[in-house]
Amino acid sequence: MAMYRTLARAASIDDLRTLAQRRLPRMVFDYIDGAAGEESTARRNRSGFQRFQLRPEILIDLSKRSLATSVLGQPLAMPLVIGPTGMNGAYWPQGDLCLARAAKAANIPFVMSTAATVKLATLVEAAGPLRWFQLYMLRDRGLAQALLERVHAAGFEVLQLTVDTAVTGRRNRDVRNGFTLPFRWSARKLIDTARRPSWALQMLRSGSPTLQLFAEVVGPIQPGSTITEVVQRQISDAFTWRDLDWLRACWPGKLVLKGVSQAAHVHQALAAGVDGVVVSNHGGRQLDGAGSTIEQLPRIAEAADGRMAVLIDSGFRHGADIAKAIALGADAVQLGRPTLYGLAAAGEAGVRHALHILAAELEVAMALSGASNVGQLRGRVDC
Ligand SMILES: Cc1cc2nc3c(=O)[nH]c(=O)nc-3n(C[C@H](O)[C@H](O)[C@H](O)COP(=O)(O)O)c2cc1C
Repeated sequence: MAMYRTLARAASIDDLRTLAQRRLPRMVFDYIDGAAGEESTARRNRSGFQRFQLRPEILIDLSKRSLATSVLGQPLAMPLVIGPTGMNGAYWPQGDLCLARAAKAANIPFVMSTAATVKLATLVEAAGPLRWFQLYMLRDRGLAQALLERVHAAGFEVLQLTVDTAVTGRRNRDVRNGFTLPFRWSARKLIDTARRPSWALQMLRSGSPTLQLFAEVVGPIQPGSTITEVVQRQISDAFTWRDLDWLRACWPGKLVLKGVSQAAHVHQALAAGVDGVVVSNHGGRQLDGAGSTIEQLPRIAEAADGRMAVLIDSGFRHGADIAKAIALGADAVQLGRPTLYGLAAAGEAGVRHALHILAAELEVAMALSGASNVGQLRGRVDC
């Protein structure tokens, strides 16, 4: 009960982050919050927003306002997508379902990760019609193709191929914390967990989360490695632009590349028949030293020139950040950590609260920039 009272008072995504930090053992919080190397790209993702200023507008009729939009031919209640994240069951029991249900209630898409902790059929029961799937290209093409056939048969219409993980970034916090799959206990971790009794009790009741979708497809995972190592063993490090033809032929729905950061990538993606890109650096979890996505967006939107959908993620924490991305040419923003902080703070209620905060902030930012709808926000930014 106390937690829900606190949740109601959480005014920002940063407040949800604080609640998440209070509830999770350190190794789990650090898995969400941490990034690669010295985390300079994660910091840059935030500071990059300072380069752009929304342009205030005054004395105009704003009495009919709407956040509704459409992306990849699908109508969305607002320009937000809950992006793919792995290990969601470690933050709250059945975390994938909490995220999917909150997305359904908000009428926005939920992207199921290859590293989901529920089975495909279970997710489909909980999710709304706007369900997208994220693929880590598996080393075994036959397994990848079988997975895609099941995903398509289950009614997923959009596929996001993550392209910035050919090798996995070194996430120092996970190495230091020894965050492994399945959880391996040491005296330090036990003490840390004992200080987080509500999380510990929930996990005892629900059981340690496992990569259920992965296990369904590739069989039992080898225990005892960091989570990124587990996933890495199965992901192809040899999939190239030329191989995209194969994927395009396998996947009849919309195909999106997640992890694009250069205008040249857009030209190659267009030539390969791709329908959209997510401008992303994986929230700074991959190439430490890379630039911020918001600073890369103008060049990418220019290269796309309305010929493909442009989504973006990495570092979005406020409605004003989202407004800036839309003003600079993005069609929608994907959320990674913001909805995970909500999930870790209070399950589905926390995810709904995160979406509520961002929608409310975005609506204010849009209106005070003189936009009654998402389209009117275009260009309303200075740099
Ligand atoms: C805990 C965690 C797990 C993630 N797992 C995946 C994943 O399974 N697949 C994927 O494509 N991206 C994954 N990502 C990256 C997100 O989809 C997204 O690109 C990133 O979190 C965006 O940055 P933000 O967290 O600052 O919003 C993960 C991110 C986090 C924080």
